[in-house]
Amino acid sequence: MDLTLKVWRQANANDKGRFVEYKVKGISRDASFLEMMDILNEQLVREGEDPVAFDHDCREGICGACSMYINGRPHGPDKGTTTCQLHMRRFKDGDTITVEPWRAKPFPVIKDLVVDRSAFDEIIRAGGFISVSTGGVPDANAIPIPKRNADLAMDAAACIGCGACVAACKNASAMLFVGAKVSQFALLPQGRVEARERVLKMVAKMDELGFGNCTNTYACEAACPKEISVANIARMNREYLSARVAAPNE
Ligand code: SF4
Ligand code: FES
Repeated sequence: MDLTLKVWRQANANDKGRFVEYKVKGISRDASFLEMMDILNEQLVREGEDPVAFDHDCREGICGACSMYINGRPHGPDKGTTTCQLHMRRFKDGDTITVEPWRAKPFPVIKDLVVDRSAFDEIIRAGGFISVSTGGVPDANAIPIPKRNADLAMDAAACIGCGACVAACKNASAMLFVGAKVSQFALLPQGRVEARERVLKMVAKMDELGFGNCTNTYACEAACPKEISVANIARMNREYLSARVAAPNE
């Protein structure tokens, strides 16, 4: 396949940035989107140009690093798919593809397609963990957990922290991400011990970092490569409300 790529180039956080058009030829339909970007970069290096900076790590849909807008959609056109899992057969010979970084104030562009997503790490640091002893593996197996709760906790834990939910939301809301991280613990007895404190701290940090509120458009759920349900936002809101009612002055 021969393609035209319109790629966002931005030298650093202070640069204004612009789209630059590139032609790539002979791309296999079986190549992944990131492999196609690698081919573009090899071409740029051969021509003495700066390669396009983009994030990636696992290339297996696990790490959440490969964040980019493809034709205006976070992680591209396929449902439940990260950029690294997207294949070029999804496009047609002669297509023009627009590639941009996440656009959200709490995710400033570092270079080209790479944004700084450390705001998510700060939210996790605020309470997205269990600090009490949860015992060993046999203890975990001895604690009765309703199957439904175990399934819902696993679904929430599938969030890979990619930030597509934020990028898709017109309010740059991080509520799907935080909802998933709050839910994965709130549904399990081990997580209940610190549940009240956790939700208050994580929501406060999310607000402090400049993420907006939920817009109820469900754009986050539609863009999420792990198909995290907005039911997790509702659960986070319930957890938050009951924590506030229990401790109105915190
Ligand atoms: S909720 Fe979905 S879109 Fe948001 S960070 Fe997690 S995996 Fe990515
Ligand atoms: S590179 Fe890890 S999810 Fe895409």
